[in-house]
Amino acid sequence: MNYIKDQKNLDGKIILLRLDLNVPLKNGIISDDTRIVKILPTLEFLIKNNSKIIIISHIGRPKGKWNEIFSMKPVCEYINKKINSQVKLIKKNIFELKKEELFSNSKDQIVFLENIRFYKNEEENDMNFSKHLASLGDLFINDAFSCSHRAHASLCEITKYIPSYAGIQFEAEVNALEKVTKNIKKPITCIIGGSKISTKISIIKNLIPRFDNIIIVGGMANNLLKYKGHSIGKSIQETNCETNIDDIFETSKNYPCSIILPEDVAVGKTMDDRAKIKELNQIENDDIILDIGPKTINKVKSIINKSKTILWNGPAGYFENPQFSKGSIAIGNQIANQNKLGQIFSVAGGGDTFALINIIDIFDNFNFVSTAGGAFLEYLEGKELPGIKALN
Ligand code: 3PG
Repeated sequence: MNYIKDQKNLDGKIILLRLDLNVPLKNGIISDDTRIVKILPTLEFLIKNNSKIIIISHIGRPKGKWNEIFSMKPVCEYINKKINSQVKLIKKNIFELKKEELFSNSKDQIVFLENIRFYKNEEENDMNFSKHLASLGDLFINDAFSCSHRAHASLCEITKYIPSYAGIQFEAEVNALEKVTKNIKKPITCIIGGSKISTKISIIKNLIPRFDNIIIVGGMANNLLKYKGHSIGKSIQETNCETNIDDIFETSKNYPCSIILPEDVAVGKTMDDRAKIKELNQIENDDIILDIGPKTINKVKSIINKSKTILWNGPAGYFENPQFSKGSIAIGNQIANQNKLGQIFSVAGGGDTFALINIIDIFDNFNFVSTAGGAFLEYLEGKELPGIKALN
């Protein structure tokens, strides 16, 4: 793998810089800027070297359609302020862009392409799209480790047509994860939550042989509770994942790994509702499961206390509404306390997880916090991520 920080002669070179600026946004306001702050060293390094920079990123899942809700505008404006430099958002169709026109104004140093997922070609890892993207620059940098589990055009196929390098944050994340997963102490507990069920459900099976406990909470748990015969009302769920769940329980029979699911939950009729604690057999058709209940919280805490390593990805509930934040906060604080006492080695990953960690101010009680969610879990599976493979 080639690393950008080792490169000389970047003066005047046009750099295509793939970042993961998929930050939490509500009404155009960024509620957690960790992913932006983390890539500033790469940006500053390139600015210092007088490179011209084309930022490529996605936000959300617009599924190949132009949708202003997912515009990169707020992120572009935020970066403008952070680095005190003019970053220009390019709304023009990428296929119509030409290398010689992008920096025709010699004062421009950084341009920002609109959400790369507005193009269906991105998720298709399309060759022509990648070739065209590559034609806009002289070098490509992947500084989006947290997207590198996706075989997408701006992460994988593009590397075939342009000299490609790992960015500073990418390198830091891979090195840190390699280190923390090498001398891992047992019992190991992995806590998986959040709402990206489709991304994570297929991964769990492969984690079973590696860990002693897998605690499944948040939206992730709903499909498993339903599979076990419980009503989950109107809660989020994924369709067509019964085979994945079969695999999880079948695989778990062959390994000494306990799969732990919620035993009680907090529900609401809407996301803004007040929390009501319910046993699993009390869930009504119009209930939405939005957090774990007190019995489950106690169980999770006692498992954390018996563990030597905790890997945490995904909150236990809809913590944006304080009514449903008790489970996530309890998990975070318990990990932080055990870490303070020197009892556990703790690693967390994922956009929502580090946003939560920042809110409850326990960042320093984790041995490592990764910006990656799905990529973090797939890395734990032990497989080479497509984005890493492409750079190799
Ligand atoms: C993330 O938030 O984990 C990355 O930005 C990847 O997003 P995705 O799960 O929508 O591919």
